[in-house]
Amino acid sequence: MALVNFAPRQAEAAHTAPLLELDRVSLAYGPVQAVRDVSFALRAGEVVGLVGDNGAGKSSLVKLIAGVHRPSAGRMYWRGHLYAPRGPRDALAAGIATIHQHLALAPRLPVWHNLFLGAERVRRSWLFGLPVLDVARMRQEAKAALARLAITVPDVDRPVGELSGGQRQAVAIARALLWNARLVIMDEPTAALGVRETEEVRALIRGLKAEGVAVILVSHDMQDVVAVADRALVLKKGRLAAQCALAGLDADRLAHLVMTAQAA
Ligand SMILES: Nc1ncnc2c1ncn2[C@@H]1O[C@H](COP(=O)(O)OP(=O)(O)O)[C@@H](O)[C@H]1O
Ligand SMILES: [Mg+2]
Repeated sequence: MALVNFAPRQAEAAHTAPLLELDRVSLAYGPVQAVRDVSFALRAGEVVGLVGDNGAGKSSLVKLIAGVHRPSAGRMYWRGHLYAPRGPRDALAAGIATIHQHLALAPRLPVWHNLFLGAERVRRSWLFGLPVLDVARMRQEAKAALARLAITVPDVDRPVGELSGGQRQAVAIARALLWNARLVIMDEPTAALGVRETEEVRALIRGLKAEGVAVILVSHDMQDVVAVADRALVLKKGRLAAQCALAGLDADRLAHLVMTAQAA
């Protein structure tokens, strides 16, 4: 697979390299330059808020990292090696899980099945050794994955459609954890949620960080970003206009920074 080129970028060991590094990455949709020359690095366990106006290029940048689109220029590195995903499956296999704004969950299927959707565990049945779904194992693993999270999803047999918004985010995150994601990208996870559920999602993000998982949080909500992120990246017209550490910064200060940041 051409996904990861095992020639290290530098002589030093991969463990000293950032988890993810973008080096002057651009994306053009025909004449539209959605992402221009963006460079940044992300470490394990770091939570980065990706902010900027509508049309700034946030989703486009996410799609490059998630393997949905390929950069028109620049390179990406994952754990010290060249990273050139040819599709979302490559990204997932590498350990990058993206949770899109409209969660790709099946509302009628139970929680456990949603966690394994498209990657169901099978076993040989006693009848002629035919493969059948290993429901018991999937229920068990689903419970274990959900137990790692801050939100309680009471019953893995409940259809996902009956869960609260926060619980659905938990199901999407548990799915990412089952794939051993080291980076979880969340696009506007709290956009449709109430106050309490928003707080639950923030707790989920803190839990991922505590496990050493890095998070890229795309959000319009500066409160979200200052509540959970270590650092903010401000995009403007496709360019990285500012990067700032968030310690001690409140939402108003961040909003002001976003407004006044100049695209180079
Ligand atoms: N599939 C596409 N084809 C053409 N232009 C697109 C496409 N997706 C996004 N764009 C354009 O790229 C720019 C960045 O969009 P987007 O990444 O969605 O920004 P954001 O997520 O910050 O709102 C916008 O000008 C948008 O109109
Ligand atoms: Mg967007």
